[in-house]
Amino acid sequence: MSHRLPSDQRQPSDMYPTPYEFCQRIVTTLIENGGDYTEDRPLRFLEPGCGDAPFCRAIKEAMGDRVETTGVETRNVLRRGWVDALYSETDFLTPNKYINRFNIIMTNPPFSLAREFLAASIRMCKPTARIIFLLRLAWLESATRLDRVHRKIFPSMVYVLPDRPKFINNKTDSSAYAFFVYDLSQQSTLNHGCQLSLLTK
Ligand SMILES: C[S@@+](CC[C@H](N)C(=O)[O-])C[C@H]1O[C@@H](n2cnc3c(N)ncnc32)[C@H](O)[C@@H]1O
Repeated sequence: MSHRLPSDQRQPSDMYPTPYEFCQRIVTTLIENGGDYTEDRPLRFLEPGCGDAPFCRAIKEAMGDRVETTGVETRNVLRRGWVDALYSETDFLTPNKYINRFNIIMTNPPFSLAREFLAASIRMCKPTARIIFLLRLAWLESATRLDRVHRKIFPSMVYVLPDRPKFINNKTDSSAYAFFVYDLSQQSTLNHGCQLSLLTK
């Protein structure tokens, strides 16, 4: 995911696995706080850049057969029991057949491609879907992103993590992190602002 190391010190493919406890935390919170997904069964869930697919695992554990999980990963990865359909060695950013398909897209995207992942996710979502990305809180900064992202699509909710995830070597880095919830049905805008909360244990 995101971090501030020079490019020659980064993990290949921006491979920063999300500690599973954080995946459980956001999935539980979103389910408790009322995603009303009753119209679609099974719920179609996508984790792009899935790695070992910890977000698929968390929602599968929470919802069982009521959710159908799909993972897309550019590297060659093994299919895990919690992923119903795995597209390994597949570039999520290459145009594909999935338009308007998913109810929820959730991941920790490669930070260098976060904007592209968001745009591709919007294309693959149903109009009432939610996209949830784990990103540096500094995602909200930068004049470039203001024009290219935030003026076009803005989160309805930002869950800041009070405890920083340990992505690599069981160590935190120097960034604050948050889950950004893009609720497409609400058409949140920069002018309306968004809700902010802490995602505690
Ligand atoms: C920050 S890791 C997160 C992995 C997993 N979602 C998690 O939360 O543990 C980002 C993942 O995206 C994959 N990735 C990078 N570019 C990609 C692309 N264009 N298409 C699909 N996967 C990609 C990387 O190989 C890496 O596994």
